[in-house]
Amino acid sequence: MPHTLQLEATAYTKQQLAFANSPQAALAGRSNVGKSSLINALAGRKQLAKVSATPGKTRSINYYRIDAGQTFLVDLPGYGYARCSKEERQKWAGLLEYYLTRTPGLKALILLLDGRLMPQVSDREMAAFAQNRGIPLVAVLTKADKAKQREREAARLAWETLLGPVPLILTSAEKKTGLDSLWEQIWGVLGELDAGSDAAVGEPDHGEEPA
Ligand code: GTP
Ligand code: MG
Repeated sequence: MPHTLQLEATAYTKQQLAFANSPQAALAGRSNVGKSSLINALAGRKQLAKVSATPGKTRSINYYRIDAGQTFLVDLPGYGYARCSKEERQKWAGLLEYYLTRTPGLKALILLLDGRLMPQVSDREMAAFAQNRGIPLVAVLTKADKAKQREREAARLAWETLLGPVPLILTSAEKKTGLDSLWEQIWGVLGELDAGSDAAVGEPDHGEEPA
């Protein structure tokens, strides 16, 4: 793998959110679409992020530090999961919304989409949210190994029509495909913002970094 990931912080509540000003890219998508599996695949590790066949596995916001530097890849709880209590659903949705609206360091939203399905309302809302706020969007069609080519092409076309010119990458965490392309997109945004890199620009990020 071209980059490493290390779990740095986990937030179950708004108060526990960290690194708000550090450059970061977040993985969003409906429950079970494969966010945590993709984190593992991107890191070339099996059990860095917890994965489950039961939707609603990730209940916290998890910050993974990239290349021991100053930028992060963030795994978010999924949305659209109906099989838990309304109260619990609202708690996650609240945390997710709080993260998305209160993280100045959020430099890209990686929106994971099921390549077997046509665009869903919740996914369109998430895409519109990012685009309305001017947050660069990277669309990822997941589980490429499971989707039939016809389904995949239909989904790709529908998303291209909806989103316009945003990068759209086909991945499989199972077969380890599309990972280099995705890293290229992520690092294309974050690389130059990493205070550890030669290309770092701007003021250092004061506040929440460990010494
Ligand atoms: P939440 O944390 O509930 O929001 O889910 P998530 O989006 O993090 O999904 P997760 O990575 O936990 O994966 C959900 C299920 O899909 C698991 O059973 C994974 O093994 C499976 N899965 C994830 N990616 C792939 C893939 O590329 N191919 C196949 N065949 N299965 C996958
Ligand atoms: Mg997860």
